Amino acid sequence: MKFCVAIDGPAAAGKGTISRAVAAHFGFAHLDTGLLYRAVGMKGGDPTQAACTLCAEDLARPDLRSLAAGEAASRVAVLPDVRAALVAFQRDFAAREGGAVLDGRDIGTVICPGAEVKLFVTASAECRAERRWRETGEGSLAEVLEQVRARDARDMGRADAPLRPAEDAITLDTTTLSIDEAVDKALVIIRARLG
Ligand code: CDP
Repeated sequence: MKFCVAIDGPAAAGKGTISRAVAAHFGFAHLDTGLLYRAVGMKGGDPTQAACTLCAEDLARPDLRSLAAGEAASRVAVLPDVRAALVAFQRDFAAREGGAVLDGRDIGTVICPGAEVKLFVTASAECRAERRWRETGEGSLAEVLEQVRARDARDMGRADAPLRPAEDAITLDTTTLSIDEAVDKALVIIRARLG
């Protein structure tokens, strides 16, 4: 069975947590596509070359979750050649037997426009900054909020595959939801589609 769940949204909205929980619940494979961009950003050198030669070792770096890696990712993610180099891998992953969950920024709009379920997970910038600040333990809350806002603007403002909900995406605002509540809402939506 092929079944693709596309989960998009801005930084620290809860996409990763929801995606992992959904994948574990239904036994689907999960791909955090942000990790691909983080690895390209942290590899250094020419970003397109880095994207074309990305290997398992690059994806196993321990610093990929840092604020610096998020920043580097969003800078290389504006480059059309970098994005193009990562498309085939993501589409192959989405088409695997047994179901797949992909989270990112352009999964429902560009990578898998035919996904069976499309969720757009969001939350207020203040709430997302606080979550990211607690998670990374880096910088001050004000600095992290500034970074979140700058990253939102870059991700939404780029010409190639900007962050936006697909027309048929269901928006899940997690600002006032606990992790369990947000996951439950996602499970209900997916279960209904699985039939
Ligand atoms: O975890 P968080 O939401 O902060 O970030 P991420 O999903 O790891 O993505 C890091 C950056 O990679 C984003 O700010 C985007 O610029 C870029 N990205 C993208 O352009 N397209 C994707 N499918 C995934 C990430």
